[in-house]
Amino acid sequence: MTIIRGATTIPCDNADEIKKAVKEMLEQIESRNDLKRDEIMSLVFSSTSDIHSYYPAKAAREAGFGLSGSLFSAQEPDIDGSLKLCIRVMLFVEKNFEPRHVYLRGARGLRKDIAQKVQIAIDGPSGSGKSTLARALAKHLNIAYLDTGAMYRACGYKVLEAGVDIQNETKVYDLLLGVKIDIAYEGDEQRTLLDGKDVSGFIRTPEVALAASAVSAYRSVRYHLTEKQREIARRMSCVLDGRDIGTFVLPEADVKIFLTARPEVRAKRRFEELKEKGYAVKPDEILKEIMRRDEQDSTRAVAPLKKADDAVEIDTSDMTADEVLGAILKIVGEKIG
Ligand code: DC
Repeated sequence: MTIIRGATTIPCDNADEIKKAVKEMLEQIESRNDLKRDEIMSLVFSSTSDIHSYYPAKAAREAGFGLSGSLFSAQEPDIDGSLKLCIRVMLFVEKNFEPRHVYLRGARGLRKDIAQKVQIAIDGPSGSGKSTLARALAKHLNIAYLDTGAMYRACGYKVLEAGVDIQNETKVYDLLLGVKIDIAYEGDEQRTLLDGKDVSGFIRTPEVALAASAVSAYRSVRYHLTEKQREIARRMSCVLDGRDIGTFVLPEADVKIFLTARPEVRAKRRFEELKEKGYAVKPDEILKEIMRRDEQDSTRAVAPLKKADDAVEIDTSDMTADEVLGAILKIVGEKIG
């Protein structure tokens, strides 16, 4: 048997708000755990002492849950410091699996000892600050960081190194099919391995960036790498950054952020970053490369760069990295506690 926990809050003690919040929480639990309704054996609700207007269990039954099992709701004592207007649920399911607990609208888990895997998606165009922020966020939360762009860069690097015509999808796919891309961690640092060789130091050049963008448009390449990214995200709590994490790789991610910035600001950031790493680059070339990649990444047919409907957009043009981190931590706190 598996027990899934959930919690949500309501803005005021009102029957319609209770019905809406209970339905939303149960639907989220159902979809994030890939459940069928008849697999749910019973549901036990508790609500904080400031909720009187409606039974959460009744709201659940009206939303079509627990029709073949048992339902129960109780009220919690009024304890100092407890979250206000909060409804919790424990859902019992017959089969055994690793549960994904669901905390919505600022509700938090009471049991810190229950390991909850979180997936945080950060998408946006190049130079929007994704990797700096994703890395800082992962460090702050003490979870893993997966730079998915590095995987596409490793593919682009391979194609350039092999001298294969990048416009020829069949040839590119044939080449990449036999290639092994692995991600390893050295402390906080992600190392990108191509057929066992560490290529992290070779994949940051503008040429490799453009090649990465070109091969990333091929369906065959994307599906291959997407599976790898999902596999990593299933194993551990992590922050993933890329172009399609919230829309395609992890549509069920707990938190989705979409970072943007004006093109000139992004080009300046990229220029400073490359200059610091010792690459001889020109600012106007970087701006051109960024504009070309924006065009390529957002117009491709498969999983283009696009904000997910439920992502929070932040324009980082006039913000410091610390300010962006603060804003993201606030969003993370509201979504998952
Ligand atoms: O984030 P980056 O600049 O390292 O990414 C390099 C290229 O890889 C980018 O131009 C588009 C592609 N990419 C992608 O299509 N999907 C991702 N999730 C990450 C990167």
